[in-house]
Amino acid sequence: MAQKALVVGASGMLTEVARWLAKQGYEVTVVGRNRGKLEEVRDGSSHPESFTLLALDYHQSDYLREAMEQLVAKQGHIQLVVSWIHQTAPEVLPTIGEVLSRPQKEWNLYHVCGSRAWRNPPVVPEGIGCTYHRIILGFVCGEKESRWLTNGEIAQGVIQAIQAAEPQFIVGSVEPWERRPSY
Ligand SMILES: NC(=O)c1ccc[n+]([C@@H]2O[C@H](COP(=O)([O-])OP(=O)(O)OC[C@H]3O[C@@H](n4cnc5c(N)ncnc54)[C@H](OP(=O)(O)O)[C@@H]3O)[C@@H](O)[C@H]2O)c1
Repeated sequence: MAQKALVVGASGMLTEVARWLAKQGYEVTVVGRNRGKLEEVRDGSSHPESFTLLALDYHQSDYLREAMEQLVAKQGHIQLVVSWIHQTAPEVLPTIGEVLSRPQKEWNLYHVCGSRAWRNPPVVPEGIGCTYHRIILGFVCGEKESRWLTNGEIAQGVIQAIQAAEPQFIVGSVEPWERRPSY
């Protein structure tokens, strides 16, 4: 049976990560608010049949929990989650964890975080019940100027992080911190 993956925030910089997972043989569920954007993620994949689209606002915890319950009931256990979640939604990971860990199931979380996580690592939600992997998005230091990572660099870095399966993986650079680009 195919392995299952969930990509939260899949229709931006994680688009190529979702498509790569499908290519690796995963059944991939992609989450975002805009269904049209999720369709583009699926339709640009070499394995569109491996995709399930979940159009929802992750701030609505009850709705997210219900969607996760239905997904697991339909597909079975989800082994891998890749998430890019804005800080306005701290309940998303505990909500997903509550459903996926039941009853004592194992899963891996690749938690994509902005560069600030280098200085202030986000607290891993208590009792989330997964093997936790933090991915920190850094920046690119040029000779004169620094810049933020492109979507392509981010996707490639996240794929490398999943392959490395380390507790923490840095995409680009986080030091020297003073050379972090201004917004
Ligand atoms: N260190 C770095 O270099 C660095 C770090 C962070 C970001 N960035 C750059 O900044 C750009 C913009 O970042 P971004 O945060 O807009 O990321 P993004 O990856 O472009 O898009 C965010 C993703 O989350 C989904 N999403 C947003 N709010 C949601 C909600 N309430 N419920 C469900 N899904 C939701 C979006 O789909 P919907 O809009 O359809 O909901 C989309 O799939 C990125 O493309 C990246 O290049 C760079």
